Amino acid sequence: MKHGKRVGIVGAGNVGATVAYSLAMLGSCHEIILRDNKIDVAKGKALDMSQAASAVRSHTVVKVAETMEDLVNCDVIVVTAGSPRLPGMSRDDLLMINAKITKEVVQGIAKYSPDAIIIMVSNPLDAMTYVALKESGFDRSRVLGMAGILDSSRMSAFIQEKLGYGGGQIRASVMGGHGDDMVPLPRYSTVAGVPLTDVLSDEEISEIVDRTRHGGAEIVGHLKTGSAYYAPAKSTAIMVEAILKDTKQIHPCAVFLEGEYGFTNVVSGVPVMLGANGAEKIIEVTLNDKEKVMFQNSCSSVQNLINTLNTHNFFEEK
Ligand code: LAC
Repeated sequence: MKHGKRVGIVGAGNVGATVAYSLAMLGSCHEIILRDNKIDVAKGKALDMSQAASAVRSHTVVKVAETMEDLVNCDVIVVTAGSPRLPGMSRDDLLMINAKITKEVVQGIAKYSPDAIIIMVSNPLDAMTYVALKESGFDRSRVLGMAGILDSSRMSAFIQEKLGYGGGQIRASVMGGHGDDMVPLPRYSTVAGVPLTDVLSDEEISEIVDRTRHGGAEIVGHLKTGSAYYAPAKSTAIMVEAILKDTKQIHPCAVFLEGEYGFTNVVSGVPVMLGANGAEKIIEVTLNDKEKVMFQNSCSSVQNLINTLNTHNFFEEK
């Protein structure tokens, strides 16, 4: 029997568990179901989180799905399953390993929660979102990838650090894929509505752009045994909330492009209006020539990953 909104989370490692914790604290859904091969660990985390929810008087209950079959009737399913990015490993190294995991998970989602909206978090993010779209057979509005909110949040934190003021008032914009050639857009970034270009020098801005592009690797360098999870999880929870609450707010998300920005058959990060039906509208921002070239380079990198999958006949194998 299902009451209220149900969110499934596949992969209860650092990112998945922190998404669950974040949602449980907000009380935006009735049930969170964790699915992980380490069933006992997932059970321990689920109990712990249900108790934390109880402490803040949230009605959210966290449970465990022992198999994909138990992940039924979910409104939203977040997929974090996959091998994490280890030091010295690029996101692309993860391609084949995580594509296989994603295929299996998404086929299960299509079977047991056919009406769900999928949010991909596993890396390489844009390619995994593409795999999820192809393997689920879902409409592109129901298969999204989380990266733009994370990359923009990193950029705004770096802007705050550089400026020394404006915290909480910074809107940074990053488009393109979640890779080293992502497209930070200083022209569309502001501090309390003041264009970034009016408060920082070109040199300072280029330092911020560079640091944003390598923001994930910077954290891996410190953690040594894994990658970031607080900001990735919070960014994912923001997407889940926008969908469950049907906010119709715009967030940068990875989606399958069908002609937008002049691209087809590729996934990239663009501003998307989120609502109860997932990606309800894709917003086309005007880019200048330089930004267009950067966006094109970023899409080409994702296209290369998709080509690699095709070379391995990935989409033909069942
Ligand atoms: C990051 C890696 C995990 O951006 O993609 O933190």
